[in-house]
Amino acid sequence: MVRNISLGILLVAAAMLVWLAGANTSSADVNKLVEGCADCHGKDGVSTEPEIPTIAGFSAVYTIDSMVAYKAKERPCVETKYPDGPNKGKATDMCKLAGELSKGDIEALGEHYEGKKFVPAKQKFDAAKVQQGEKIHSASCEKCHEDGGTSAADDAGFLAGQWMPYLKRTFEQYAAGKRSQPEKMKPKMDKLSKDDIDALLNYYASLQ
Ligand code: HEC
Ligand code: HEC
Repeated sequence: MVRNISLGILLVAAAMLVWLAGANTSSADVNKLVEGCADCHGKDGVSTEPEIPTIAGFSAVYTIDSMVAYKAKERPCVETKYPDGPNKGKATDMCKLAGELSKGDIEALGEHYEGKKFVPAKQKFDAAKVQQGEKIHSASCEKCHEDGGTSAADDAGFLAGQWMPYLKRTFEQYAAGKRSQPEKMKPKMDKLSKDDIDALLNYYASLQ
C-alpha cells in the first residue's frame, strides 16, 4: 500500500513536469488538432452523436479543466469509436486523446471552443416530465447552472440542450463516485431519485 502511494506521487510529479514543459501552440496547430476533435464532437464542436457531448461555447476554463482531468484519468475514460473521419470505427477515449496534448494545445483548444456557438441538440423528450424537471432544477441546480444550465460563465458545461444520453451517463458516473463533483453539488445530486433524474433529463432535452 505504502509503495503504491509513493509510486502514485512519483507518477503525479512526472505528469506535472511534462505539463510544465508544454510550449505555446500556434493557430495553425490548433486548426489541425480540431480536425480530430470534429470527427467525434462535430463541426465547430456541435455534436450530432447523442453519446458525444457538444462542446461549442464552453468557457475555456471548463474545457481546460475537463481536458486536464481526462489527462490525469480523474474523469472516467469512456471507450468511444470514431463515428466519422479517417479513423472511423477505431476505438479510443478522452484520456488517451488528452494525454497526447501539451499544456499549450489544451489552452489553445479551450480558447478555440469558447469562441464557437453552442447549438442545442434536436432530440426527443417526454413532455409530461418537463415541468417536474424544471421544478427540481430551479430548487437545487439553477444557483450554479444558470438559465437552465446554458451559461458558459458557470464553468460547469451545459445542461439545457446537451445530448440526453451523454448527460444520463454523467449522472451515472457521479452516482457511482467515478467522477468527482463540487462539494456543494454532491448533496443535491445524492438526493435525486431515479424519477427525478429522468425528469431533469427530459427538462434539459426540452430546451432546444
Ligand atoms: C473518438 C471520439 C472523440 C474524440 C476524437 C474527441 N472526443 Fe472529446 N469526448 C468524447 C466523448 C465520448 C466524451 C464524453 C466522455 C465522458 O462521458 O466522460 C467527450 C468529452 C469531452 C469533453 C467534456 C465535455 C463535458 O461536457 O464535460 C471535452 C471538453 C472534450 N471531449 C473535448 C475534446 C477535444 C478538445 C478533442 C480534440 C482534441 C476531443 N474531445 C476529441 C469523444 C471524443
Ligand atoms: C454549488 C454549485 C453546483 C450545484 C448546486 C450544482 N452543480 Fe452541477 N456542476 C457544478 C460545477 C462547478 C460543475 C463542473 C464540475 C467539473 O468540472 O467536474 C458541474 C457539473 C455538472 C454536470 C456535468 C456537466 C457536463 O458537461 O459533463 C452535471 C450533469 C451537473 N452538474 C448537474 C447538476 C444538477 C442536476 C444539479 C442539481 C441537482 C447540480 N448540478 C447542482 C456546480 C454545481
